[in-house]
Amino acid sequence: LRIAVLASGNGSNLQAILDRIASGALDAEVGVVISNKPQARALERARSAGVPSLALDPAAYADRESYDAALVEAIRAAGAQCVVLAGYMRLLTPVFLAAFPGAVINIHPSLLPSFPGLRGAGDALDYGVRLAGCTVHFVNEEMDGGAVIVQAAVPVTPGEPLDDLKARIHAMEHRIYPQALQWLAQGRLRVEGRCVHVAPPDS
Ligand code: GRF
Repeated sequence: LRIAVLASGNGSNLQAILDRIASGALDAEVGVVISNKPQARALERARSAGVPSLALDPAAYADRESYDAALVEAIRAAGAQCVVLAGYMRLLTPVFLAAFPGAVINIHPSLLPSFPGLRGAGDALDYGVRLAGCTVHFVNEEMDGGAVIVQAAVPVTPGEPLDDLKARIHAMEHRIYPQALQWLAQGRLRVEGRCVHVAPPDS
């Protein structure tokens, strides 16, 4: 499976994916890492891993559609079949989603459909939930709205600092994202409406 990773920031999920590939636990290859932020740490991580990387500045494009068209072109040029969002802080246009139907995946720091949006973990903590977590899901046109592939729960200690909770959620993200991608690479995911089935491994 050849994937393109889109990232705007730190890129710790990208790193987890690169590490799993290096260890042989994920049968994938990162064809390109693209960021809307030239300074993103994610781009540095790509360079360190010897993976092609690219910064595309939204200011250089007239509108979101033409920006996304450039993204599509770069991803196709890299030969990627699947697009992995790892802290990519822009909404994708329908133009983009139509180019990779059923092949765009995201990770979100909450147990969806609770707490979509920019502050998943913070909103969960403010609400006072006892279980927070993270979700890997297919991307559709709704923000954080596509079919769920895998989730992991993280217990919350009432009153704990947000940074502690975020760190534990992140650690869990680094486990479930490569796992979901490995299922995809193995051809084990089957989508039926909102339901994603994970077939048992070939034996
Ligand atoms: C993660 O919390 C992820 O759930 C959200 O953005 C954050 C990215 O973190 N979509 P990183 O850049 O992978 O460290």
